[in-house]
Amino acid sequence: MKLRYVLPCAVALFGLGMADAQSVSTSSIPHLEKRGQATQLMVDGRPFLILAGELTNSASSSMEYMAPYWPKLAAANMNTILAAVTWELVEPEPGKFDFALVDGAIREARRNHLRLIFIWFGSWKNGESSYTPLWVKKNQKQYPLFLSESGQAITYLSVFKEANWKADANAFAAMMRHIREVDGEAHTVIMMQVENEVGCPGATRDYVPEAKAAFNAPVPRQLMDYMVKNKENLVQEFRQYWEAAGGKTSGTWAEVFGNQPMTNEIFMAWYYALYVDQVAKAGKAEYALPMFINVDLGPAIGGYSSGGALPIQLNVWQRGAPAIDIIAPDIYLPNFAEWCAWYDRSGNPLWIPETRGDTANAFYAIGNHAAMGISPFGIERQADAATPLAEAYGLLAQAAPEILEAQAKGAIKAVSLNAQHPTETVKLGNYSFAFSMGRMRGPAPAAGGNAQASASYAIVISTGPDDYTILGSGVQATFNGPGPSPAAVAKLEEGAYVDGRWVPGRRLNGDDIMLNYDAPNKFIKNESGQGFRIASGAPKALHLQIYGY
Ligand code: DGJ
Repeated sequence: MKLRYVLPCAVALFGLGMADAQSVSTSSIPHLEKRGQATQLMVDGRPFLILAGELTNSASSSMEYMAPYWPKLAAANMNTILAAVTWELVEPEPGKFDFALVDGAIREARRNHLRLIFIWFGSWKNGESSYTPLWVKKNQKQYPLFLSESGQAITYLSVFKEANWKADANAFAAMMRHIREVDGEAHTVIMMQVENEVGCPGATRDYVPEAKAAFNAPVPRQLMDYMVKNKENLVQEFRQYWEAAGGKTSGTWAEVFGNQPMTNEIFMAWYYALYVDQVAKAGKAEYALPMFINVDLGPAIGGYSSGGALPIQLNVWQRGAPAIDIIAPDIYLPNFAEWCAWYDRSGNPLWIPETRGDTANAFYAIGNHAAMGISPFGIERQADAATPLAEAYGLLAQAAPEILEAQAKGAIKAVSLNAQHPTETVKLGNYSFAFSMGRMRGPAPAAGGNAQASASYAIVISTGPDDYTILGSGVQATFNGPGPSPAAVAKLEEGAYVDGRWVPGRRLNGDDIMLNYDAPNKFIKNESGQGFRIASGAPKALHLQIYGY
């Protein structure tokens, strides 16, 4: 079910030509809120589950290109689109701003009942400064570039030059001011990404004179004092790295962290963080939307994008850039669950702004790490209501109020199964669930169709002492109670949420709850042989009540 909302503000109505939007708005701007065990994004006074997709890099530079995609994205059950806004197009001449594309995206998003997260391609996009305006690119004297160890200028703006961050922060602030003016009431724009996958690919650290001096100077007290004060709570690998170098509480970067390549990365992380913090702070002074950075995870920890917020740098970035609310991993690598765990630490809420369109991963992050949402990349290319992602978003959107409440209560878990990890036991509430990959398969996918027909995943929500909601696909599970007697199905029904209300479908019993009819042998093992199955294909919802014999 889509959230629909209106623009109470006349400026926004006439300026952006909105006549067809409907329903709710409040004046509180989107913000992050700690609700019970989860940090959630609040939009119009309610927690919001971000079921998003990110456009390809150049898509939002043309309203004509985007025109056919907006309704398709909405039809594919997205509630939010991540779209780039580039410094070069926003400030084509110094101090002259053009927000036509920002306004156009807001107008189309509203028309299609979508929210937006803008991505600020400012000083860097994957390290490169290719989105800076030409007047910045051409004036390297005023806006100096990064120097490699051999003294070669590289097309990355240097983080060590005040003129660079000041020019970026000025443009970003102007844009945030504009967004407040046109959207401060309607809240179509719900978050901002500041820069893109920051870090210097292929290089270790900057060698401009200020950078060399900073590297040979003591580690700034701001960072050192934070490390000493929070030693017990630092992310394990960062603390271990520091301790392996002697655990000193003062000294140069090489003295404190050792004369190792990773020390260059920590040094660059600190200075990138300070720079990005200035940009975010200037934007927040105009309009304080939640702001995040996204992270290129590289091929491995300690990989090539020196200075990016890899897991080992989490604390450095948190201390260096307090105006950044979330450090958000772009998870393309296969060990999805581990990356979720590495970013669900140190008070950092999980939000995944780029990934593949994998439905099992979406369920896993939302169910096991209280993720505030997920956003596959290149979304206009997969904007189709018949994709597995669209089907999964359809169910997650229906169940979002229940999911968000369960995240806050810590009453939700998830499993994602595959050939390497075919079973998992989940303990939640009074019972534990022994999940395995479903044996009851759905219909074979049409040629070129459902590429994920064999995905096996589920979210389990505890809704009462003996009651559960299960959302999933391609799984089955038996359950066990806390005591010595086996547990069995009191009531199992499939159904759907209509306007937030559960509407039961079939009441399941007989073959549909018996996973094993050999009751005598099962009872010896304290099992009833009963459970549930969900066929593969489009995910389904079940309501389950359990009782102990
Ligand atoms: C990660 C970047 O952040 C995106 O902008 C895009 O370039 C993707 N990689 C492409 O896979």
